[in-house]
Amino acid sequence: MKNIKHLIEPGDFTIEELDSLFRLADAIIADPNKYLDRCKGKLLASLFFEPSTRTRFSFESAMLRLGGQIIGFDDPAASSTSKGESLADTIRTVGCYADIAVLRHPREGTAKLASKYSEDMPVINAGDGGHQHPTQTLTDLMTIRHYKKRLDGHVIAICGDLKFGRTIHSLVKAMSRYEGVRFIFISPEELRMPSYILEGLDESTYMQTDQLESVIHEADILYMSRVQRERFVSEEEYERLKNYYILDKEKLTGAKDDMIVMHPLPRVNEICEEVDDDPRAVYFHQARFGMFIRMALILRLLNMEVEQ
Ligand code: NCD
Repeated sequence: MKNIKHLIEPGDFTIEELDSLFRLADAIIADPNKYLDRCKGKLLASLFFEPSTRTRFSFESAMLRLGGQIIGFDDPAASSTSKGESLADTIRTVGCYADIAVLRHPREGTAKLASKYSEDMPVINAGDGGHQHPTQTLTDLMTIRHYKKRLDGHVIAICGDLKFGRTIHSLVKAMSRYEGVRFIFISPEELRMPSYILEGLDESTYMQTDQLESVIHEADILYMSRVQRERFVSEEEYERLKNYYILDKEKLTGAKDDMIVMHPLPRVNEICEEVDDDPRAVYFHQARFGMFIRMALILRLLNMEVEQ
């Protein structure tokens, strides 16, 4: 088997590898034209078994802006999965055509499984059920690094659906590796952080609460999230919890002046539109960083950083 690298969860990159990836993204942002042809002749397979706007479009724009091309689907009904083909067979087939694959799937562990069947095509996890979403985390880290100038020493308040929010699981795993980071987990009792994430943390580095207003003043970063309707068994339960937290201007008056408000998007009701104009709201800039860091990731996994 060839020595190829996949990205399935944040721990697949060391802190040093992440740093160097962020520096590559910085270089792309500074001079995107330099990278226009780097992936000429390369093909990215975009395999989306679940809806997506930002992740899919940012990956596809990333590949196109590197001069590569794209095949794929955003509706599994259009692939042979609908005829009963296994994921393993789909991946082996895609590997006959594409150089790199991006996979989103509703089932936890699918990206890992796919990587086992991919002999020479790097597989990138673009979200596996309620489990992990490592490339959103790269986006989030780029954003934090840009606005807060470093990744260590922050108090991060994470609010909303901590149970099913895969971007949150990956973010906590990644940020807990940096010195002096403290977490405030804000959720209703029913949507608390899963124990497998808490078990990976030093107990002195986090607190759990259901109160946003009483802790917002402590946060350097406030990471809001959508209640993940598609992961609920009961629609009634979703309806009861969906508007548990709504960030508005009034609540922001209690926050630090240099706090940043992040959100992986899509937003439903958890941030009022009136907050969008607040200089602390950075979620749409966050989405833009997503394309540049994915350009860097594609270049790195394909070993195409320098002109071939
Ligand atoms: C997130 C996801 O798919 O997990 N979206 C994204 O990729 N930016 C967040 C969400 O759907 O709530």
